[in-house]
Amino acid sequence: MAVFWPNLAFIANALLPFKMYLFKNVNDLQSHLNKIRKKGGKIGFVPTMGALHHGHLSLIRQSVEANDCTVCSIFVNPTQFNDDADLEKYPRTVAKDMAMLTSVDNDVLFLPDVSEIYPPGLNTELKLDFGELATVMEGYFRPGHFDGMAQVVKRLLDIVEPHSLYMGQKDFQQLAIVRNMLTQLKMPINLEMCAIIRQEDGLAMSSRNVRLEPALREKALLLSQTLQKGKAKMATQTPAEIQQWAIKELTIPSFKPEYFEIVNAITLQPIESFSDTDYVVACTAVWVGEIRLIDNLIYKNK
Ligand code: PAJ
Repeated sequence: MAVFWPNLAFIANALLPFKMYLFKNVNDLQSHLNKIRKKGGKIGFVPTMGALHHGHLSLIRQSVEANDCTVCSIFVNPTQFNDDADLEKYPRTVAKDMAMLTSVDNDVLFLPDVSEIYPPGLNTELKLDFGELATVMEGYFRPGHFDGMAQVVKRLLDIVEPHSLYMGQKDFQQLAIVRNMLTQLKMPINLEMCAIIRQEDGLAMSSRNVRLEPALREKALLLSQTLQKGKAKMATQTPAEIQQWAIKELTIPSFKPEYFEIVNAITLQPIESFSDTDYVVACTAVWVGEIRLIDNLIYKNK
């Protein structure tokens, strides 16, 4: 059954210039999308876990611009959380999310329950080996996270069958793994990497930012500052020297840096010298109080 949002009242609906389809189950979503595909319409897909912010909206905008139909999914995927408390505390703000999605002309919201994504009897387990892409950085500190992430992205792609998939540079390693998955499975989907959207002081937008205490929220800009200052040192220092400096910089009261790595942006392996490769990214993860934040900055791309 298709439900229109907002469906508060007939009058409100009539006054609204734009409507968004809301589907909670796979069959209804697929029959809607099949009609679009039959007419030759292009489908863009933006998977999310909700608690939307302007970073998510920038992905939606890019998809809306380039496709005939944009599908956004909101699904807090239990299989990619390696910490039950983190899953439980993950912010859920569906009503606000829907209003934000309509504000950027998103066409379809897919809002499934767990039983729709992982129905009993359907084996959604993925047996892919991402090699060293998945053993460093997030893969090292969040064991199992990328298997769960890839599992849900594959399942969602099988459901939506989009022409293009929009994902954020914010989760650089996630994107690299999804790219690798598309290649391994020979899935003919165009993957677009969308730039990181930041708050005014430079903090990368994240659904987790709302959980930062005000005092720590102020200090959290240290992540992007350190990434920027590290980049400025490239001419005179080695990656290892910058890494050492950055870890010290990020070690202040209430902060616990997990990693600051300067890596080949394709293989995600640490580099010894900036002349090793043309495409370099610095990635960091830091506990800020109880909240784990990640950020990255491209150091070199030519
Ligand atoms: P979520 O954290 O909700 O992010 C959804 C998408 O938004 C991801 O592609 C992420 O990189 C992008 N994004 C997040 N913050 C951003 C920012 N500040 N600027 C630009 N893009 C940003 O990533 C996930 O969900 C999940 O792992 C998912 C892929 C949905 C699988 O469950």
